[in-house]
Amino acid sequence: MGRVGLGVAASCAAATCAIAAALVARRASARARWRRVVALLREFEDGCATPTPRLRQVVDAMVVEMHAGLASDGGSKLKMLLTFVDALPAGNEQGTYYSIDLGGTNFRVLRVEVGAGSVVTSRKVEVTIPEELTKGTIEELFNFVAMTLKEFVETEDGKDEQRALGFTFSFPVRQTSVSSGSLIRWTKGFFIEDAVGKDVAQCLNEALARSGLNVRVTALVNDTVGTLALGHYYDEDTVAAVIIGAGTNACYIERTDAIIKCQGLLTNSGGMVVNMEWGNFWSSHLPRTPYDISLDDETQNRNEQGFEKMISGIYLGEIARLVLHRMALESDVFGDAAYNLSTPFTLSTPLLAAIRKDDSPDLSEVRRILQEHLKIPDTPLKTRRLVAKVCDIVTQRAARLAAAGIVGILKKLGRDGSGVASSGRTRGQLRRTVVAIEGGLYEGYPVFREYLDEALVEILGEEVAQTVALRVTEDGSGAGAALLAAVHSSNRQQGSI
Ligand code: BGC
Repeated sequence: MGRVGLGVAASCAAATCAIAAALVARRASARARWRRVVALLREFEDGCATPTPRLRQVVDAMVVEMHAGLASDGGSKLKMLLTFVDALPAGNEQGTYYSIDLGGTNFRVLRVEVGAGSVVTSRKVEVTIPEELTKGTIEELFNFVAMTLKEFVETEDGKDEQRALGFTFSFPVRQTSVSSGSLIRWTKGFFIEDAVGKDVAQCLNEALARSGLNVRVTALVNDTVGTLALGHYYDEDTVAAVIIGAGTNACYIERTDAIIKCQGLLTNSGGMVVNMEWGNFWSSHLPRTPYDISLDDETQNRNEQGFEKMISGIYLGEIARLVLHRMALESDVFGDAAYNLSTPFTLSTPLLAAIRKDDSPDLSEVRRILQEHLKIPDTPLKTRRLVAKVCDIVTQRAARLAAAGIVGILKKLGRDGSGVASSGRTRGQLRRTVVAIEGGLYEGYPVFREYLDEALVEILGEEVAQTVALRVTEDGSGAGAALLAAVHSSNRQQGSI
């Protein structure tokens, strides 16, 4: 080999070394970036941890806040609103009633036949509320609702007869009677400023009159209250109702004398349904992460609905997106597609659920969702696993916190088994307790349900958990409101509570 040959060989070797060195350096930096992603994941997981002792602290905090909210208005972030529902259906109600169920992006109109021990929804329409109406004026929104009801009844016989209407309005309302009450504030993305402080039943009655309908609101109820009414109709052991859907909330039957802020208001039954508005519950024991703070900053109701923002359908996908976006910024895990993760609310909760539900060996559904919905192509399996894990953490925390909330109610009612003496003798018999439950997250997302059920057993223990049934009601929020319209209409029969 001549000098030239040697020179070429030497420079080839040098180039190979340089390439190898560059490759090694690239791999090392890729490994470092992946380690960063894993560290972010661990940090998030730790921040969301809800071991049983922490859940018990949440339960106790919930009970303390329930007492404070019952003692005075403004005494707690838990509003503990009076509903004036002191009588639940007795079972002998009869007739045809209507309901309007408004509380999310869709609203529903129902015709409900009540009688012979059953409540049957005989007709139902569901209408999407145009986005601009969630931000306009209350008159525009309710005109739209009234016109939809008008079209609904116009196809029926006796369209001019007077009708009793149950109005499910799933936002915090300070009730002044069972059929009137003013909106305290909007939640769940609605923001119609001129409605705050107004009597929403009156506003709807005016819109109904404008549209020429002979219909009046007989019962103004929260969706939890409708759900409780229907649940109790079918099973008298039902003492509370929970909604876990776009938003979250609970109500339960309280003794009137425990509602200190009632100031002597008497009810025939000695009890009243209290709308907790638990979405606004807050406690330092809640596992809050920096992502929850960022989410809160993005919303129109900052510093409000803290519990709801960790649990309900509007928010879970967004929490996961915030985590993935941070990972994308601090690593190359999503390649050039990182930017696609920067738009708020692009990962919806149904997508989060589909990602978590994917049990195929190569997570093909996760790949599809990343590609089609987030425009992130070609993710390796380990990245898809990472995404699924983030969705799992968000789901698990939400479900376990909801379980703690439910146990909080049971504890306030003395039905959590804490009356069981250490010797195992019960001071009082453990009674069967039913909690009516509704909402897309609980009904449509089995993983969420399993986590919730598991946490209930963990907090309550097997024996007590066996006495507690969560029972899904169908159309409870709407049909239950029609049922309450029946209880409170002129042909009222006295129900019980
Ligand atoms: C509202 C509640 C409602 C819950 C479930 C919350 O955002 O404040 O009134 O019951 O969502 O729909």
